[in-house]
Amino acid sequence: MHIMIREFHHISLRARNSFRVEQQAARLVEFETADDLRTLFDSGLSERWTVLSGGNNVLFTADYDGTILTPVSQGIAVLDDRGDDVCVRADAGVEWDDLVEWAVVRGLWGIENLSLIPGKVGAAPVQNIGAYGCEAADAIERVHLFCVESGARLSLDAAHCAFGYRESVFKHELKGRAIITAVDFRLSRTPRPKLGYGDVEREVEARGGATLRNIREAISAIRRAKLPDTTVLGNAGSFFKNPVVDAATAERLAAEHPDLPRYPAPDGRVKLAAGWLIDRAGMKGYRSGRVGVHERQALVLVNLGGATGAEVLALAREVQTRVRERFGIAIDTEVNIL
Ligand code: EPU
Repeated sequence: MHIMIREFHHISLRARNSFRVEQQAARLVEFETADDLRTLFDSGLSERWTVLSGGNNVLFTADYDGTILTPVSQGIAVLDDRGDDVCVRADAGVEWDDLVEWAVVRGLWGIENLSLIPGKVGAAPVQNIGAYGCEAADAIERVHLFCVESGARLSLDAAHCAFGYRESVFKHELKGRAIITAVDFRLSRTPRPKLGYGDVEREVEARGGATLRNIREAISAIRRAKLPDTTVLGNAGSFFKNPVVDAATAERLAAEHPDLPRYPAPDGRVKLAAGWLIDRAGMKGYRSGRVGVHERQALVLVNLGGATGAEVLALAREVQTRVRERFGIAIDTEVNIL
């Protein structure tokens, strides 16, 4: 049987979370397969545990006194290749952007708009990562899991993952009960450019048209221009989710603020831009001690250097309060707070 690769005790998490906060974990185990997980749980992992993937969507506000499980498996394999459709399995430990590059090199469409999203494949289904008019759920076919209760391997097809905007079954019913080990994606050889979001079309045309490579480069350039590099300025991408409000609330706000960005949802409600709300509440570029609201994208909170998780959380609460006072809208955090 395969053995866990590495185990650490009292390990610093600073290099393992993109906010770069200095916290420790009592124990951290890197695993590859469901068999590794079974061995681990069989040996009596009764204490508190959690999965830490790339650490790009988490804020540690204290030391973690249990066991952290981190996937490090690296395989990408073609499962099924039938002309147009290609089914690909990627292990949970693969860097998300490496998978995107792998697909682009092979002429496979479906995840190119998700270029440069930080994190690993195993985390992609959890919050259904999304950007520039595309979501992981558009390409996910099946998610492979280790079931903690039974010790069995299971897989769920996409229809049973309850995918929504930054939502899935893994954040709710299966939280603490299943650990993702691999994900299957259905990609396509037929070009399917999605250029409708913001500046994407212009940036793609500027590069000579809608090839996979040009889309990947255009999206990467747009992201680099707006989102801070975590190796320079600790952050976890969007700290807040865009709020979804009822149509009447959206109309009331739009009457007062004609330039309010509104994205109608299929259920009749309306998604608003939290970044715009924070910006118009006067918080873009705001700084408080060692933390701040990013100056080019107000949805992103940044560690200006040496901040604790508690300092970031205090800023988040301040931002939420200001938005509520100014617009009467509650914005929820997207980042996992531990
Ligand atoms: N806006 C402002 N000020 C700001 C930020 C945004 O006025 O500081 C306005 C923009 O002008 C635009 C609207 O708000 O009219 C939306 O902004 P943007 O297109 O930048 O997207 P977003 O809603 O702020 C979402 C995702 C990002 C993703 C982008 C692009 C969420 C929580 N965030 O941001 O995802 O990259 O769309 O698709 O849904 C992430 O989840 O970590 C992330 C970065």
